[in-house]
Amino acid sequence: MSIAGANASKGSLRTEFEQLFDCVQPFQSALSLFIEEEVKNFEDEIRSAVHYCFQGGGKRIRPTLVYLSGVNDLGSYTTDMVKASAVIEMIHVATLVHDDILDDADTRHGKDSVSAKFGSDAAVLIGDAIFAHALKLAASFPTTAVCSAVAQATRRVCAGEIAQTYQRGEVNYSLKNYFRIIDLKTAELFRVACFLGAHVTEKGPIIEKAYGDFGRHLGLAYQMFDDLVDLLGDENEIGKTLGTDLISGKYTLPVILLLNRMSEKEAAVLLNRLKSQEEGAVKELRQSIGSHSVLAEVASLFNEKISQARKALDSTGGGSDQMQSLCDFVENQGRKVLLI
Ligand code: IPE
Ligand code: IPE
Ligand code: MG
Ligand code: MG
Repeated sequence: MSIAGANASKGSLRTEFEQLFDCVQPFQSALSLFIEEEVKNFEDEIRSAVHYCFQGGGKRIRPTLVYLSGVNDLGSYTTDMVKASAVIEMIHVATLVHDDILDDADTRHGKDSVSAKFGSDAAVLIGDAIFAHALKLAASFPTTAVCSAVAQATRRVCAGEIAQTYQRGEVNYSLKNYFRIIDLKTAELFRVACFLGAHVTEKGPIIEKAYGDFGRHLGLAYQMFDDLVDLLGDENEIGKTLGTDLISGKYTLPVILLLNRMSEKEAAVLLNRLKSQEEGAVKELRQSIGSHSVLAEVASLFNEKISQARKALDSTGGGSDQMQSLCDFVENQGRKVLLI
């Protein structure tokens, strides 16, 4: 296993995702049209900035989860599924707008991040406006269940981002803490996307819960992959600013595991070098991660999450082939970075 694998995957993640989920394209096109119409409702003063946020770029994984959890055997989808996807995607995009302020990231989706383009002050409010619009849309379903689920998920995402921000610069060696944060900030929205797909198509509480569990475990694996990419990946290929986790003092799984393997003194020296942004420190850290069996442990934890996602599907008879393909997709992306 080697960190060279980080650069081994060629072609953009988005293209690969779109090719694999070609069958979801009609749904994605309906979603794009729906969002375009919704953007027209924003005030004249902010409409173009909001439009910028939704212009191209995202893979729309969470809407795909809504689709896969709601689609019927004939491949048909409903307008409620499109609306629920729009709610989820808006929350996701608003979170990214705020996340790029927190991470001081200039690039998102291969172009200027909203904070780089409009400034952080404006980006805070643009993100807020998009969150608010998502909740307004969620409130337009016949019952309060959708709005309630989405509002709670949004609060949990914020809690995860806040917890991570409070802990900046500190090393919390506990894996429980790492998984708690990624559960809140990422897995929760994956979970609620699956829950809503099943809920708005009336699949019943057992399927809602099972699909929700599937989404949650897949979300955990996805964030583990994303954290690996931030540390070891190629910015041009990914289309967003990488390396921000270390610069901003966010110590993710591979770093936590590495520090756990070092003596107290070695760890203190490494952290000081990272904090003072000493030349060569990041390069050495990457090399150490490659040579301390850290990636093997990350791989084992990553595989565990993928297995749990599949297990949640097993309880429903295995889920659809496309749900299994989504597990394969995340698994393969992780494997490429880990070179396993
Ligand atoms: C990025 O999510 C943030 C994480 C939770 C890792 P995606 O990779 O789904 O973002 P886009 O929308 O496709 O760029
Ligand atoms: C995920 O964290 C962000 C959210 C859940 C909002 P990251 O900070 O790792 O996401 P990227 O890497 O910037 O997309
Ligand atoms: Mg970020
Ligand atoms: Mg990241």
